[in-house]
Amino acid sequence: MITINVNAGDQRYSVLVGPLADSAERLQQLARGRTLPVVSDERVWGLHGPALAALTAVEPILVPEGEEAKQWFHLQGLITRFTELNIDRSTPVLALGGGSVGDLTGLAAGLFKRGCPVVHIPTTLLAQADSAVGGKTAIDAEGQKNLVGLFHQPGLVLADPALLDTLDERQLRAGYAEVVKYGLIDDPDFFSWCEANGPALLAGDRAAREHAIATAIRAKARTVEHDVEDKGGTRALLNLGHTFAHAIESAAGLGAVLHGEAVAIGMAQAHDFSAELGLCQREDTARVRAHLSGAGLPTTFAEVTLDRAQLLPLMGADKKNEGGKLKLILTRGIGRAFLSDGVEAASLAGFLARAL
Ligand SMILES: NC(=O)c1ccc[n+]([C@@H]2O[C@H](COP(=O)([O-])OP(=O)(O)OC[C@H]3O[C@@H](n4cnc5c(N)ncnc54)[C@H](O)[C@@H]3O)[C@@H](O)[C@H]2O)c1
Ligand SMILES: [Zn+2]
Repeated sequence: MITINVNAGDQRYSVLVGPLADSAERLQQLARGRTLPVVSDERVWGLHGPALAALTAVEPILVPEGEEAKQWFHLQGLITRFTELNIDRSTPVLALGGGSVGDLTGLAAGLFKRGCPVVHIPTTLLAQADSAVGGKTAIDAEGQKNLVGLFHQPGLVLADPALLDTLDERQLRAGYAEVVKYGLIDDPDFFSWCEANGPALLAGDRAAREHAIATAIRAKARTVEHDVEDKGGTRALLNLGHTFAHAIESAAGLGAVLHGEAVAIGMAQAHDFSAELGLCQREDTARVRAHLSGAGLPTTFAEVTLDRAQLLPLMGADKKNEGGKLKLILTRGIGRAFLSDGVEAASLAGFLARAL
């Protein structure tokens, strides 16, 4: 079991990477004899609910699979169930599922009685390596992703790589894009590790998965510690590729392109754009693209169906005045990402028109 301690302002919590069964005592201590509510979706509950229920008494609350869960209606549904179950402010709510279940449950727990603890038990690579840590919670609203949310740090995160064995390959690859992101931000050695070990990780190698998840969480913890509420400091770097990605997700229609797939394209484009601006070498871009496409991820706009004309407005560039500048994560090379606030809207427009 690997333990990673996260300091998020005055909140401290542990992330345990290893077999869920080894955390039985920890869960029972939190439960103090109570039955714990566990939010999950039908698929994940069916696959992994029994193993969790064998460790401590739980009451399942099921929501729809995927992004569909992140709606007002289901947020309200959770609040109703918490009330019916007479949960008090000290009762931990468990979230067993991917980032969607985690985002919804974290928000409901953060709001209920002004905040009760949430314990994340992430079941996708994306959630284990990224979304379960950091305290961001949200639902989608008014047609916009993550419009309504709050920061609510978990009390504990239990990441068991064995739970990923049932995940389908497309979801696994999408999550892998977020893993690679941590190499590209500031850890070139980890990017090299991904080049050497990514195929084994994707094929199911438990040790490789554990190493990648722990490395990503440590990197996220470091970043979050310095900028807990994403006020424009170091945490912004976690958004490498994401300004492109969010525009891609919206332009393709929410749900058509998986978040991690959009991030893979976004990271490749951020490197290409940086190369075009003379900030990084073309060889770096080629290396990034080769690794991501080797992992079965898209790296060009042409690989997904979307209305390209929507990308610029969705990236916010059209809101800038003539000659205006916008903020974007760019890079000086592999592992050398930085937040630029001097991107010319016109130069981004030109790049988007030419990009692959
Ligand atoms: N809070 C954050 O910091 C943060 C960061 C990144 C992404 N996110 C959010 O996370 C969401 C995406 O989450 P995701 O990629 O984890 O996918 P997801 O939660 O949407 O789940 C995708 C699918 O995988 C299935 N699934 C989950 N675990 C499984 C398992 N072990 N075996 C078989 N099937 C399984 C689910 O039933 C679902 O159908 C997005 O809404 C995104 O905005 C949040
Ligand atoms: Zn992301």
